[in-house]
Amino acid sequence: MFRHGSLPDTQIMRKTVLAVSLSLLACSYPALAGDTKKGKQVFTEEAQPSCTVCHTLSDAGSSGTIGPDLDEMKPSREQVINAVTGGVGIMPAFNESLSSEQIEALADYIVEVAGATR
Ligand code: HEC
Repeated sequence: MFRHGSLPDTQIMRKTVLAVSLSLLACSYPALAGDTKKGKQVFTEEAQPSCTVCHTLSDAGSSGTIGPDLDEMKPSREQVINAVTGGVGIMPAFNESLSSEQIEALADYIVEVAGATR
């Protein structure tokens, strides 16, 4: 026996499946150039206190001398993530004020502009 009500349900299901697959597709292709730009914004503006206060990084136009010169240090992605997440010495931890997405964008940016090998 066919029930008339069953057809619209199927259509709703199809639309839902389509919407879910589209959003999954969007997530699996991050825009790399966009992330670098975003990382710079985190470095110069979103992190509080700003990384520029304490660190020199020429691409960001910063010349802080409280922490190591990042152009010279060329930290790895892991070094940046660890330092920013947990803090080092007098450097504060940012894990409560920045999302892991922001911290990763930051690490990608610093590695990119300071020329470290990943
Ligand atoms: C209040 C000043 C200050 C701020 C703000 C600051 N740092 Fe630091 N940072 C330091 C100091 C000082 C050190 C060295 C700590 C030590 O070795 O004892 C350091 C160390 C580091 C290191 C090297 C870690 C290692 O493995 O030795 C990296 C990378 C770094 N900072 C990145 C950042 C980034 C990115 C930001 C912004 C989210 C930031 N810092 C904000 C002061 C600061």
